[in-house]
Amino acid sequence: MCGIIGYIGNKTLTPLLITGLKRMEYRGYDSAGLSIFQEGAIKTYKKKGRVADLEAITNEVESTSNVGIAHTRWATHGFPNDINAHPHNTANNTISLVHNGIIENYASIKQKLIQEGYQFISDTDTEVLVVLIERFYNNVNDIENAVRLALNEIRGTFGIALISIYEPDKLIAARRGSPLILGIGEDEYLVASDAAAIIEHTKNVVFLNDDEMAILTKDSFITKTISNVQTNNEIHTLEIELEQIEKGGFEHFMLKEIYEQSTTITDAIRGRLLIDEGNVKLGGLRQVQDKLRNAKRIIITACGTSYNAALVGEYLIEQLAHIPVEVEYASEFRYRSPILYEDDVVFVISQSGETADTLAAVQEAKNRGTTVIGIVNVVGSSIARYTDAGIYIHAGPEIGVASTKAFTSQLTVLTLLALYLGRMKNLSIVEGIKIARELSELPKKVEEILQSTDKIEKIAKEYSSSRNYLYLGRGFNYPVALEGALKLKEISYIHAEGYPAAEMKHGPIALIDENMPVVFIAPKDEIYEKILSNVEEVRARKGKVIAIVTKNDNQMNHLADHVIEISETLPILTPILSVIPLQLLAYFTAKELKRDIDKPRNLAKSVTVE
Ligand code: F6R
Repeated sequence: MCGIIGYIGNKTLTPLLITGLKRMEYRGYDSAGLSIFQEGAIKTYKKKGRVADLEAITNEVESTSNVGIAHTRWATHGFPNDINAHPHNTANNTISLVHNGIIENYASIKQKLIQEGYQFISDTDTEVLVVLIERFYNNVNDIENAVRLALNEIRGTFGIALISIYEPDKLIAARRGSPLILGIGEDEYLVASDAAAIIEHTKNVVFLNDDEMAILTKDSFITKTISNVQTNNEIHTLEIELEQIEKGGFEHFMLKEIYEQSTTITDAIRGRLLIDEGNVKLGGLRQVQDKLRNAKRIIITACGTSYNAALVGEYLIEQLAHIPVEVEYASEFRYRSPILYEDDVVFVISQSGETADTLAAVQEAKNRGTTVIGIVNVVGSSIARYTDAGIYIHAGPEIGVASTKAFTSQLTVLTLLALYLGRMKNLSIVEGIKIARELSELPKKVEEILQSTDKIEKIAKEYSSSRNYLYLGRGFNYPVALEGALKLKEISYIHAEGYPAAEMKHGPIALIDENMPVVFIAPKDEIYEKILSNVEEVRARKGKVIAIVTKNDNQMNHLADHVIEISETLPILTPILSVIPLQLLAYFTAKELKRDIDKPRNLAKSVTVE
């Protein structure tokens, strides 16, 4: 959700900033801009559209100094246009600022500043901040202090980077609630919302904490709290390689990530599965082991795709460990004054580890003294750092805006967790071994699905002009129906609903006619017979049935218009397989409709605003 980058060092500035923005473009892509120095003056270039549009107007532009900032935007305040694009500058171009986040009290501050004679040209909250800094600068004559004073006045979230003509050799950055990483190179420093913009230059990073500032010059960096106490942050080494954030011959990141799933599931399992003991080793949970053993209830909170994974987690934990589980959207949890007991444990799931609502849910639960455990992908992200313990899903960077490999890795980790909890409770070793063995077989079965995608592509083409889709599943595959519908909506813009199959007759059945494709997730399990009846009900109303089934399902072969086969596995593991054809169905539909698959309209990868 907006990507910012700042650089100070010796490299040629404009292409470096543009490449950094391109690497973070999945965070926001409605406009982009950059500020550099030319002959002592700040020069800002910004443009509605993609980073490539900004590149087109800046590729001849040379900087006369070695410091600059840039931004790719996902609009919150004000339309995406050239004026609202970042950086935002003071009226006389003394300070230039890029911002990711939302300044909640910007309207009242703007009012006051207007009364004092300051003028504004954009509709953004960010312009208010840069003008406020200028106002303080006029009193204190020190840019660092001016930033500090301004940040103390604002409410909301920010990751900022700024340059000024007052101290042109300094780059100042600060954060509260929005991610910001410092890259520590040789004679160069970077600041960015995302490691993807940094790893080309250095793997040594400092994760800035909330209410911290960084003051960077060409040969030094200092971090301080916003209240001016110096801090000593550990330097971490990133374990990401450049090829992980490149397309590697695939047409889209989403397709690459779908194809990575047999590897990413293997990575989620690696070193954790003790097949002969029918058990699991989760080092990240060691210090909360007793808490988990005594947990009377588990609450899982998350957003979007991660929420759908949480729903599968509910089924898994209740079935294997018999611990009651509640799942709630993080955005509801945070504002609902949730009742939490001493022996509750809260799990949060987040690919990015930066989702604002999920982060706020972590705070809410921690404020109430509850143990909070993260299931996170991005190492060093805010949620990974603020939770009491955690399990990384190890899916590697996910760039496609529509989440795919993170979902199956989340499901894999949730299965490990349920097995771990089950074995702590009453799950037998025999049952544990069966699950562990089957889990280790999944990567092979994922590979099989990915080897025959032609049929899915054909189905996608056939129904790509549909205006609506219905996704139905039961039990473990009900959340998969939600996820399938979400994928299709996000990238093809076709309206899709996911429902528990049996709920169809309580309302959605009214929608079914010969134009309605209905996707049934119907692997062979204990409720398979029930789902067959639901298929009959759709057929009786002339709906078109696409069924995800276990290999050699002769019954469904006769009933459905199309069947897509997955290999047989334990019912509790089917979601990890059954979701993959749905990801592909969404992908090929969007491709047929010529949508911008990796950057669907209105979306951004990491939702760091409320
Ligand atoms: C859907 C998608 C979003 C995210 C949601 C939560 O494809 O990507 O729904 O799942 O924004 O994001 P994380 O998991 O980063 O907290």
